[in-house]
Amino acid sequence: MGTVFDGVVEEYDAGRPGYPDALYDAVVELSGVAFAGAVVVDVGAGTGISTRGLLERGARVVAVERGGRMLGRLVARTPRGGVGAVLGDGNALPVRDGVADLVTWAQSWHWLDPVVSVAEARRVLRPGGAMATWWNTVDPESADWLAAYEVRQAEACPAYRGPALEDWGPPPSAAAMAEAGLAPAVRWIPWRRVIGLEDFLLDMRSHSWVASMPAEEVEALVARQRTELGRVFPGGVLDVPMRVYLVVGRTPEEGG
Ligand SMILES: C[S@@+](CC[C@H](N)C(=O)[O-])C[C@H]1O[C@@H](n2cnc3c(N)ncnc32)[C@H](O)[C@@H]1O
Repeated sequence: MGTVFDGVVEEYDAGRPGYPDALYDAVVELSGVAFAGAVVVDVGAGTGISTRGLLERGARVVAVERGGRMLGRLVARTPRGGVGAVLGDGNALPVRDGVADLVTWAQSWHWLDPVVSVAEARRVLRPGGAMATWWNTVDPESADWLAAYEVRQAEACPAYRGPALEDWGPPPSAAAMAEAGLAPAVRWIPWRRVIGLEDFLLDMRSHSWVASMPAEEVEALVARQRTELGRVFPGGVLDVPMRVYLVVGRTPEEGG
C-alpha cells in the first residue's frame, strides 16, 4: 500500500500544522463524546498529527493509514501507550462492528469514497457514537499576501485544489453524512499560525498537488515563493491566518 504522501513524509512531518485546542473542544461539544478513555478510530492518520492530538487528550486511538511510510513515521513519533497503528484502507476499516466511540478523518475524508467511508464509520461506531471530519486551511480572505501565495500555487500546479480557485469549497462531508441519515453540525474555527518561512515552504511541498509535480518545477515554485514571502516577512517569521472546517455527525442512541 502507498499514497502520494509517502514521497513527502519528511516535509509533511516538519511542515504541517497541528490543530488548535478550540478544534478538539468543538469535537467534544458537537459529538457528545469525551476524549478520556474513548475509543477513537483515526482514519488517514498520516504521520500522526491528529492521532497525537487525540492521545494527548486521553483517547485510546486506532490509527488507520494506507501509506506505509506515513504510518512508519507515525509509529516512530508517537508514544506507544494507547495507540494501535494499522496499515489499512479507510474504505474497509480493519475494526469490528460497534466498538468505537468516535471516528475521525483529520484532513483525510476527501481521499476516501464519500458513501463507503461514512457507511464504514457507522458500522464500527457504537450507538450514540459520532464521526468527525476536519480540515485546516489557510484563510487568504484575511491577508492579500496569502491570497497571492495561493494564486502562485494555482498557476504552477495543475492538480492544485484550494481557495485560489473560484469553485473551491470544503469537501462535501456534511452532505455525505446527511445522505446517510445523520444531522451533521458544521463549524469554522479561526486561529493563527506563527511559523518560520522555511517550515512554511516545507508545508507547501507536502501538499499532494506539489508532491505530484516534477522535481524541477517544485524547486522553481519553492524559489519563487521564498522570494515573494521574504519580501513580506523580511524577519523570516510568518503570521498566517488559518481556519479549521469541522463537520460532526452523531449516530442515534440505541432504539433512537
Ligand atoms: C492529508 S493526510 C492527513 C494526515 C493526518 N490525519 C493529519 O491530521 O495530518 C491524509 C492521509 O490519508 C491517507 N489516505 C489516503 N487514502 C486513504 C485510504 N483509502 N485509507 C486510509 N488512509 C488513506 C494518506 O496516505 C494520508 O496520509
